[in-house]
Amino acid sequence: MIKYLTSILFFLMIGFNLQVAAQEYHFVPQPESVSFSGDAFVLDKNTKVVVPKKFQGELIPYLAEKFYSDLGLNLTYSYRNPEMGEKHILFKLDKNLAVKDEGYLLEVQPASIVVTAKNYGGLFNGFQTLHQTFPLENSGTVNVPGMTVKDSPRFGWRGIMLDVSRHFQPKEFILKHIDVLSSYKVNKFHWHLTDDQGWRIEIKKYPNLTEKGAWRADRTGVSWWQREEATAEEPKTVGGFYTQEDIKEVIAYAKVRNVEIIPEIDVPGHSKALVASYPQLFCYDEPDANFEVAVGGKAPDNAVCAGKDTTYEFLEGVIEEIAALFPSKYLHIGGDECNKSNWKKCPYCQGVKTENNLKDEEELQSYFIQRVHKIVKAQKKTMIGWDEILSGKGAPGATIMAWRRGTYTPEITAPKEGYPTVMTSYKHMYISQVQGPTFMEPEGPKVVLPLSKVYGHEPLPAELTPEEVNRVLGNEACLWGEFTPTQEHCEYMLYPRALASAEVSWSDTKVKDWKRFQTAMEASHFKRLEREQVNYAKSLFTVYASYALDELESEAYVYLNTETVGYDIFYSTNGEDPTTASTKYESDFIAAPKTLVKAGLFNKEGTLLGRVTEIRLK
Ligand code: ACM
Ligand code: ZN
Repeated sequence: MIKYLTSILFFLMIGFNLQVAAQEYHFVPQPESVSFSGDAFVLDKNTKVVVPKKFQGELIPYLAEKFYSDLGLNLTYSYRNPEMGEKHILFKLDKNLAVKDEGYLLEVQPASIVVTAKNYGGLFNGFQTLHQTFPLENSGTVNVPGMTVKDSPRFGWRGIMLDVSRHFQPKEFILKHIDVLSSYKVNKFHWHLTDDQGWRIEIKKYPNLTEKGAWRADRTGVSWWQREEATAEEPKTVGGFYTQEDIKEVIAYAKVRNVEIIPEIDVPGHSKALVASYPQLFCYDEPDANFEVAVGGKAPDNAVCAGKDTTYEFLEGVIEEIAALFPSKYLHIGGDECNKSNWKKCPYCQGVKTENNLKDEEELQSYFIQRVHKIVKAQKKTMIGWDEILSGKGAPGATIMAWRRGTYTPEITAPKEGYPTVMTSYKHMYISQVQGPTFMEPEGPKVVLPLSKVYGHEPLPAELTPEEVNRVLGNEACLWGEFTPTQEHCEYMLYPRALASAEVSWSDTKVKDWKRFQTAMEASHFKRLEREQVNYAKSLFTVYASYALDELESEAYVYLNTETVGYDIFYSTNGEDPTTASTKYESDFIAAPKTLVKAGLFNKEGTLLGRVTEIRLK
């Protein structure tokens, strides 16, 4: 009997320990399966780290830096197998492991931690999961819980796009975020390098692109959409660009972090900086046009001529250098939102249209895209374009970024027509949109894209057959730069929504859970971002407030709302900041006109999580 009771007690204790362990770790993205069992591995200075010989050059410096900066540990690193009894973390390759590419098996036992994967990406990702079990403080010794994690990505393409044309961001900023994003298993960095407001990459054959195209007149303080065009005489002081040496450094840094860099040169539209640098690429020979880099939203005359051979010869020169610089098999040529009004009036464009029997300017765009496609293919690259490249006669062989939704349905038509497709839904993944009540957020497009909506996005349309689903390469969140002049503001827009996008792209729908994700942000990842000195947004915790005024009765119905689950809203109507001693919001309530309502979101410990929302009723 005593033996029987002891074993019950033993199992209860184990069960209790397992539960504690499971709650303490907040993995993002959520792995496919995690099971906690057995004793911890004590990670301390006596631990040896073993990596495959062929990756030692990349992995050892990376791991050594992480173990030292996060835990203060100087470990021993080698590609030689551990001795008997030597406590170790072993990274090992097994091409027959039953996981997808970049997946991994992580096994933590008292004597060893073993990360097994089919390739470098898998080893890197396995380490990221292990890394999320480390405490935030530099503690020297870590008890890594006994566990087995088996994990595979849902999609091979887990991207983030950053627009550095509208506002240039320095190389150091790019490096910082490749490091942070890769720790969430993001593996594609789509670099939007050119647009109307700046050309950001050195092209040796065409120095004007950065001597002139990377700089614009200063309109700081004037709303993006109200800015007056620059004149030729004005000084051009705002901008910057990456040298080819900078680009090589970023590529090498990203490679260690399992991140592929996809460059985008946006043509034939969005090209004001290009035509400002080389006006001969514009439609007419003697144009009555402004040839200054755009300073804000208005950028007329921003398309290159689709009729002149010189346009294609020029682009060939650019594409040759880009192709030589970036190892990615992809080269993004933009293709979006081309204003074709000049093409309609241009003798060169119209000549090409007639010669080639093109029905309209949409077909002329296809003609342009197909000529550029030939140039890209000659460089042995796969062309990517925004979904407008499907218009007219399409672009067989290209990969599509499906951004439009609603009237256009490229998320369905592109895979159905046989195109490999990356989902970049502007409704769910354009994280340049504000993420909380508009009046409490910094300036931005006035559409609210809260964290929960990014998290809840399902990239695969139900209309696709399994064969068409296989053409969906993955998902990508895009940060357009019109309203993000500073690094702090870019970070604020990126985080935590980039983490939600990372989970959408990595985790199987079966393991996705909004409540777990939002709790993981509060309990762990916000602190992790703080450690990396990232200026993330806490808008998730802002209370949405609205009211309906009943003038007849002279009273207002007040509604408070939150995208979170499991936290409480408290509010006041006496002008004081709400606390947990204020009224708890259960449902809409009546207040007198002119009342100042203040509301905040609180966790179970009574801590105010975000900012206080204030509205004064009419
Ligand atoms: C886009 O948003 N114009 C791709
Ligand atoms: Zn033209």
